[in-house]
Amino acid sequence: MKLFANILLAALMGVAASASFAADEHAAAPAVAAPAKPAKPDPAKGDTVFNATPANSQSCASCHNADGNSAIAANPKLAQQHPEYILKQLQDFKSGKRKSAIMKPLAAALSEEDMRNIAWFVGSKKVKPGFSKDKDTIALGEKIYRGGIGDRQIPACAGCHSPNGAGMPAQYPRLGGQNAEYTVAQLVAFRDNVRLNSAPMNGVAAKLNDREIKAVADYIAGLR
Ligand code: HEC
Ligand code: HEC
Repeated sequence: MKLFANILLAALMGVAASASFAADEHAAAPAVAAPAKPAKPDPAKGDTVFNATPANSQSCASCHNADGNSAIAANPKLAQQHPEYILKQLQDFKSGKRKSAIMKPLAAALSEEDMRNIAWFVGSKKVKPGFSKDKDTIALGEKIYRGGIGDRQIPACAGCHSPNGAGMPAQYPRLGGQNAEYTVAQLVAFRDNVRLNSAPMNGVAAKLNDREIKAVADYIAGLR
């Protein structure tokens, strides 16, 4: 009886194994062709879209400058930023994952191809260096950037954004030279859970107070 049970079990397992083998075989054969790879980004086309003035709205360049070196402090510099990061932000503005009343309609008007071309265009431009302005907080800013604040579990920014602020392609954006006013606004938005497209940054900013945010943003503006 026991032998029969074992034979039956073995037979059942054999069926199961061959069934799963068949399923694997089926899965291995793609039912649909893989999606076509996106075309190689064309920075020259990106330049054209970035600097064109669409009907009923402003050009990207009117707020971010012709080469992505925004002179207005509230607007981010885009020059020399990792293209993959820029592309992600444009996609997040379009989908609403990153909220911005200004950027949402502008990004919504862009095709995926426009976004890629623009991202590789601004990424190819050299960032104009910035300066730290507040002598009184520069030491605090440097301490936070390079070492974090250990007893409050605030990690060193340098660990992800690199010691000179160049970031690490493709995930960790360049910060060096960024307009301090913009950086302050982003850190406050991460801290207050207004910018929700990066869980790591919500954690990093959660415990920073206003003075620390101002100090580290001013320090970052001078990084090169
Ligand atoms: C009216 C001014 C204005 C115009 C026009 C404008 N932007 Fe912006 N842009 C902003 C502001 C302000 C922000 C910051 C948004 C925020 O997070 O609050 C921003 C943010 C961005 C960011 C995110 C950068 C980062 O470091 O995360 C990208 C990318 C961007 N803009 C690209 C573009 C492109 C491409 C266009 C044209 C289609 C454009 N912008 C047009 C003002 C503008
Ligand atoms: C664990 C890694 C990590 C650490 C540590 C970290 N960051 Fe970030 N940071 C990120 C990532 C990832 C993003 C990109 C978010 C996205 O994709 O939208 C980012 C984005 C940012 C941005 C937005 C840039 C822009 O152009 O809008 C700022 C500002 C920033 N970080 C500042 C800081 C500061 C200041 C510190 C230190 C107090 C810090 N980060 C520490 C991972 C990190």
